Amino acid sequence: MAKEARIIIGEKEYKCPVITGTEGENAIDTRSLRADSGYITFDEGYGNTGSCQSDVTFIDGEKGILRYRGYPIDELAERSNFVETAYLIIYGELPTREQLQGFSSRLTHHAAVPVNMEHFFEGYPAHSHPMAILSGLINSLSCFYPEFAVNNHKADLENFDEVASAALSKVRTIAAMSYRMSQGLPYIYPRKDLNYAENFLHMMFTEPYAKHVPSPEISKALNLILLLHADHEQNCSTSTVRMVASSEANLFASVAAGICALWGPLHGGANMAVIRMLESIHAEGDDGSTFIKDAKSGKKRLMGFGHRVYKNYDPRAKIIGRVCEEVLEKLGIDDPLLNIARHLEKAALEDDYFVSRKLYPNVDFYSGIIMRAVGIPMNMFTVMFAIGRMPGWIANWKEVASHPQGRIYRPRQIYIGENQREYVPMDKR
Ligand SMILES: CC(C)(COP(=O)(O)OP(=O)(O)OC[C@H]1O[C@@H](n2cnc3c(N)ncnc32)[C@H](O)[C@@H]1OP(=O)(O)O)[C@@H](O)C(=O)NCCC(=O)NCCS
Repeated sequence: MAKEARIIIGEKEYKCPVITGTEGENAIDTRSLRADSGYITFDEGYGNTGSCQSDVTFIDGEKGILRYRGYPIDELAERSNFVETAYLIIYGELPTREQLQGFSSRLTHHAAVPVNMEHFFEGYPAHSHPMAILSGLINSLSCFYPEFAVNNHKADLENFDEVASAALSKVRTIAAMSYRMSQGLPYIYPRKDLNYAENFLHMMFTEPYAKHVPSPEISKALNLILLLHADHEQNCSTSTVRMVASSEANLFASVAAGICALWGPLHGGANMAVIRMLESIHAEGDDGSTFIKDAKSGKKRLMGFGHRVYKNYDPRAKIIGRVCEEVLEKLGIDDPLLNIARHLEKAALEDDYFVSRKLYPNVDFYSGIIMRAVGIPMNMFTVMFAIGRMPGWIANWKEVASHPQGRIYRPRQIYIGENQREYVPMDKR
């Protein structure tokens, strides 16, 4: 017999169906509750609300599990690369050789941005944050490719292969161009012979008079960072993408909104905040012990620790922490920030404040250190996260756009403001 939940309000009982996911997650379907009872469910911050059904990513935060389309993150980190994983996330299956070739060719075809777009960069002040430029220019792609941005789901899905490849490929080019602009350097065009990560490093660091050839360790590390960020279920930016997509907005507009949501320090901006925190600890000559005390008393926040969903080790943090050490060793880099991070992690994992609140390192705790080693400047860290997250945003846009009974996302609220009152003329206020 199908399970159902019974909600008793006063004398009355209301029945709500229970829905169960493929991993046994249960939810009470309250969609008809307001119509039946006049009550809505209240869950500020959506901590206990399922906003959609999705078959892209599965997370079990209690057990520290993350799977893209059923594949464990550590297996993909070990055996796949960013482009193959992006295909998996966007299309649902690992690609055949031909499918991967076709996908890579489309990415190469879309790597450059329209020449007119170069003028946009000149309009921004040199100190502009690259996240602002990135979201602005990704949205502007809809002006250059109106045939991909019809704002009608059926029409936009007809060009999905092209628009998805354009977003995934151009996000990297625009990101590199925004960095070059901020440094007053000439733009470097993408090359056909380089893979996704190498091409990004080339567009960032090649000079007209000197080719930049990254070491295999560096391009592998960058590939891994992007892969580990490729999707993460219904986080703040992905939910934003879905929210915008639900109004039938096109893919460029929806993912541009995702970039804005990612910018904040409680989301994608945390990787920058971690490095700032480690640098200030280092500058004060602390090994992290004083900082831990301040974090416990609420004076400071241990950035890169804690997660809304993971109440166990973030599996991405484990992988990135290990690779961080390997990469730094291979490159012969002795980064004092890594020692402080290790000390903070050890101290926190032994401290009852963090243990009792189930606060563990998240993906951002070590990703900044590894990005420093790759040579990525700090104000580009969140941009790297945005490039990495593009496959997840695209897959979630597609889910919303293809939903047969898709409705606009429109939560309710509990109003706590003034009751009706009369307008007060200016001289009586
Ligand atoms: C990620 C984060 C926003 C999750 O927030 P949340 O699910 O709303 O968790 P809460 O704010 O309810 O935290 C629960 C408790 O742990 C404490 N806490 C959470 N994260 C903490 C941190 N990083 N340092 C110190 N204390 C922390 C809170 O103060 C709260 O304590 P209390 O119960 O005594 O009030 C939060 O852990 C955080 O700010 N982390 C640092 C930023 C970060 O790394 N973000 C990247 C996420 S991938």
